Amino acid sequence: MPIEMSAGVSTALYLLASVLFILSLTGLGNQETARRGNAYGILGMAIALAVTVFSPQVHSYALLLSVLLVGGSIGLLLAQRVKMTGMPELVAILHSFVGLAAVLVGYNNFTEPPNGIEGAALLIHHVEVYVGVLIGAVTFSGSIVAFGKLNGSLSGKPLMLPMRHWLNLSLGLICVGLGYRFLTAADSATATTALLAMIAIALAFGVHMVMMIGGADMPVVVSMLNSYSGWAASATGFMLANDLLIITGALVGSSGAVLSYIMCQAMNRKFLSVIAGGFGADAPVASSAVTEAAGPVSPISSSEAAEIIGLARRVVFVPGYGMAVAHAQHVVFEISSLLRKAGVDVKFAIHPVAGRMPGHMNVLLAEAKVPYDIVFEMEEINDDLAQTDVVVVIGANDIVNPCALEDPSSPIYGMPVLEVWHAKTTIVLKRGMAAGYAGIENPLFYKENTRMLFGDAKKMMEEVLRELV
Ligand code: TAP
Repeated sequence: MPIEMSAGVSTALYLLASVLFILSLTGLGNQETARRGNAYGILGMAIALAVTVFSPQVHSYALLLSVLLVGGSIGLLLAQRVKMTGMPELVAILHSFVGLAAVLVGYNNFTEPPNGIEGAALLIHHVEVYVGVLIGAVTFSGSIVAFGKLNGSLSGKPLMLPMRHWLNLSLGLICVGLGYRFLTAADSATATTALLAMIAIALAFGVHMVMMIGGADMPVVVSMLNSYSGWAASATGFMLANDLLIITGALVGSSGAVLSYIMCQAMNRKFLSVIAGGFGADAPVASSAVTEAAGPVSPISSSEAAEIIGLARRVVFVPGYGMAVAHAQHVVFEISSLLRKAGVDVKFAIHPVAGRMPGHMNVLLAEAKVPYDIVFEMEEINDDLAQTDVVVVIGANDIVNPCALEDPSSPIYGMPVLEVWHAKTTIVLKRGMAAGYAGIENPLFYKENTRMLFGDAKKMMEEVLRELV
């Protein structure tokens, strides 16, 4: 016999869970309170799950517990196995699940509407179903494409179909027309056909929307899909008359939208121009600045790098995606500690889109126990770089590319970057001359005061550490 919780108690607990989610978001806004934020989130989710399990709608605990067990086990396994560099793909695929859930719940709510609703209430319910399924389908297919682009199984180049904006507009208008047909259908067969046709179009729209976006604009897409998944969850909440899902979905939707805005600002791009797509079409692009400046690079060995670092009084480390790939953060921390013990002024400089997900570098540095007070955001540290003896760029490329400031023909022109070339010496650690995520060449490597330390970031940093000890 299912145990039922009274409506009053479940509403109060849902409210408590919502407050915990808000506290969680607040906590996650700062590295020092992030753990607490996570704990609030876990507690809120545990309460939400418990209330849902004991809700009157549940008729079969056996079924519910078995799906919880299967879903929970898959989640646990994925969380244990995922590498930090694989997090963006995991996030993208999780967004797709939210989208798929909204489609399935919506379709089910259409075929089996809540008991006893009719007239205007039924119409509103159908609007909720249609909007929820639409957002869910776009989120689902868009996130699958984002997953493919982020893990490299799909090309990062934007798909530039002729008249693509007209195509998008037409798909949007057809969805509006189908919506009208769905809501005014005289029989359920017509409504079902309209709903299924809209799902097919929304799936195609999601694919096209993300295929159009390329190169360094992917951070905005990931946060935008995050936002969509929130709105899809919120729409599902309306369908199910579940307050917590409405609130949580709105929190995710709005925080994802704010994050997309912050990302656009960080990259000095307009949100609409990102969504319109087309950036990073040709890879790798040799900008005119590179072609003019390209001379020989100045490679150095790890012992030469250690000598340069060892003589410096002010050192700034700039971590990028390559540091994450190589898992070099711990050895970089050891070098920084050694230097600080010797009285060197050491700082870390973080670009807002370094790595492959928001806060990627902050998480890695926190994991390596780098103190927060020596980690600086780009706008806090850029002016200090000219007074720095040595900047060590570890597996970063696009975020330190001078083309962003100097070459109007560059696809990343206008994006603020860490101006590491103003330091007395810049050491760039990477394996070869490969381009970064945006697929463009980097004139930094050819500058007079740049020294190239070629090799795997972890291996090279270990060699430098051995030389310094
Ligand atoms: P990237 O521009 O991608 O450059 C990383 C560099 O690391 C590569 O040029 C690569 O050169 C080097 N590298 C790779 N593995 C290495 C290893 N084991 N050891 C040493 N070096 C290694 O990275 P970034 O500078 O961090 O910029 C991030 C880029 O990703 C931006 O374009 C950004 O828009 C985009 N993006 C960001 C996000 C978010 S939200 N952060 C999400 C999606 C995309 P070699 O192969 O020559 O070693």
